[in-house]
Amino acid sequence: MTSRFHWALFISTFTLAGCGGLFDPGPLSYVESPRLKTELQGREAMQEKVRGALARLFGPNPREIHVPAGAGLPLGGARLANYRHFEDGTEKPQAIARIVDPKQPPVTQVMRGGFALYREHCLHCHGVSGAGDGPTAPFLYPRPRDYRKGLFKFTSTNTGAKPTRDDLEKTLRYGLHGTSMPAFDASLSDGEIAQVVDYVIFLSMRGEAELALIDEAMTADDKDPEALSETVATEVAGNVFNKWKAAATLVMNPPIPKPPSTRESILRGRNLFLGGTAKNKVGQPVKGDCIDCHGPRAEGDGNSFVPQNVFNTVVFGGDPSTRNERLQAFDEKVRTKWKESLDDWGEPLRPANLNRGVYKGGRRPIDLYWRIAKGINGAKMPAHYPANDPEMIWDLVNFVLALPQEPKLLEDAVVPPAPTAPAPKVAATK
Ligand code: HEC
Ligand code: HEC
Repeated sequence: MTSRFHWALFISTFTLAGCGGLFDPGPLSYVESPRLKTELQGREAMQEKVRGALARLFGPNPREIHVPAGAGLPLGGARLANYRHFEDGTEKPQAIARIVDPKQPPVTQVMRGGFALYREHCLHCHGVSGAGDGPTAPFLYPRPRDYRKGLFKFTSTNTGAKPTRDDLEKTLRYGLHGTSMPAFDASLSDGEIAQVVDYVIFLSMRGEAELALIDEAMTADDKDPEALSETVATEVAGNVFNKWKAAATLVMNPPIPKPPSTRESILRGRNLFLGGTAKNKVGQPVKGDCIDCHGPRAEGDGNSFVPQNVFNTVVFGGDPSTRNERLQAFDEKVRTKWKESLDDWGEPLRPANLNRGVYKGGRRPIDLYWRIAKGINGAKMPAHYPANDPEMIWDLVNFVLALPQEPKLLEDAVVPPAPTAPAPKVAATK
């Protein structure tokens, strides 16, 4: 049999008729990346090929999920969706997930399923496609994550790598402190968290595959009948899946355990924080860069970002949809800096105020080690390993953890002078 959806998982379509509830998402369809039309302008046939490939790989809409071959999701993706809504408003789990693998007996399981859980708990913020565009999203700062770039901030893996399942589970369980991302530890069971993690990964893979297919189509030949063929599309998506599969092997474990938080360690961390220099193990001088962004009092107001009052005016000074108008009131220099300090999703970004002791990615020493060593993906916070030795990173962790308990640590700090501007060119005398 030459099934076009070999190895695919079919989930029976179901209707949402009678699905009342607080939030009715209405007809569910994925939003398309705007790049599809802008990058492939005037190439309608190629646009259709991308749409077709995406629908073949991941299913045409959220109610009809296909799990593409090689996606690497646990249980072949059987936990993605498995819930049926009846016209009388009741909901019942159905053992309807069936893995179509000719070599295996069909797998059936009874569970709620990632899609149903996502729809109930996450969709109003993160959106149907995981584009961070649910109905609540425009009112939030920071905005809910758009998963489709495949970029996640709070990971334990090397810079730029995908998160592990543990990383995503931790985000779901404990939320992201200081943001509207809630903690679901009390409302979802372990099994449910695993199901919804599958679904986040599915949406992220789908979104990143869409972008990769558009890239592929941009260089493809319109006249070539093989352009974006099934084989090519499968390979393009496969590259995305492989990055997710690699994540577990890319965890950045500190080579040494955290040293005790001695006065010496805290002060070494403070020196680096304030832009001081220290020699690393191979004898290279390393200069701390933290104040450039976090500011000399660690209040999140460093020179690489626009002043706090500008940020407040633009982001919080009125309707979120008119931010750009408020920005135009500032001069060109401020506007350029604003643009340069947007995050990789094009959203306004602010360095953390480290006096508050509130960390989005968790307050355990290991969380802060990861944040400082490998940076925060997509969010301008740079990696500091391997330029800084693990010892130096632990000093910074000890300093960061001490600061909220001891605000005096920076009160009387002498901030190193800003780098001197190049000497003005003296007009040559005749
Ligand atoms: C009230 C809005 C809201 C709800 C509901 C919500 N989130 Fe979020 N979520 C956010 C915001 C805001 C962020 C981004 C915070 C940031 O970037 O600083 C986020 C970020 C994330 C991230 C990215 C973490 C990273 O490392 O980058 C994941 C994953 C996530 N949410 C999953 C979920 C899941 C799954 C659900 C449902 C079980 C959910 N969220 C419900 C607002 C929400
Ligand atoms: C180029 C700018 C930049 C530099 C340099 C920088 N940071 Fe950051 N840092 C940021 C931004 C922006 C955020 C907030 C990211 C977010 O909220 O998503 C951040 C967040 C953090 C956080 C909070 C993590 C969390 O879980 O909320 C810590 C801790 C931190 N930085 C420490 C440091 C230290 C220590 C240094 C110097 C070794 C440093 N940063 C250098 C931009 C920078």
